[in-house]
Amino acid sequence: MAIFVSGTGTNMENIARRVQSGDLDCEIALVVCDNRAAYALERARRFGLKCIVIEREDFKNKAEFDRVITEKLREQRVDGILLAGFMRILGPDFVRSWRWKILNIHPSLLPKYPGVHAIREAFEAKEKDTGVTIHFVDEGVDTGPIILQRKVPIEHGDTLEALEARVHATEYELYPEAIKLFLAGKLVVEKEGVKIVQ
Ligand code: GRF
Repeated sequence: MAIFVSGTGTNMENIARRVQSGDLDCEIALVVCDNRAAYALERARRFGLKCIVIEREDFKNKAEFDRVITEKLREQRVDGILLAGFMRILGPDFVRSWRWKILNIHPSLLPKYPGVHAIREAFEAKEKDTGVTIHFVDEGVDTGPIILQRKVPIEHGDTLEALEARVHATEYELYPEAIKLFLAGKLVVEKEGVKIVQ
């Protein structure tokens, strides 16, 4: 598997720990990071993960950027991609060539609150709950077929920071669950959505 990151990398670290402990039965063949300053790189180094930094600014267009990433993934014989706080939209050709092999984690109950400020928006809208979604990536933004979702209640008197911490704690449980289903070949994408087969 490859993990794509741009930021702090706590989900990446959680996955790496679970691979290390044997809870997740896969190899992290490559970490792809589009931001040299990302703290995720420091974490990846601590786990001895192979990383590449590939910044969009270094390429003349998005297609070229995506093509070079695919080349690196093929070199490492990657079978699937886990987006974990990757802040860039992958191009349609890239998404098509990895159809239903790219998973993403999003901190809301999609289709509610797509985009980068999902937790804050749910909090400010005074929702009773928000949550976490794991989905396959399609050509849209946070729109692909949903694999798993889990609610996180917003308590009376909650602060944004406390809510964020609970959402992240839920992420660290839910993403590995979805990854296990993916690795076991139990996820089938149908017209109506993702079916979990036994
Ligand atoms: C997570 O909240 C994830 O749901 C969203 O970006 C955040 C990444 O955090 N896509 P981290 O880099 O894993 O700490």
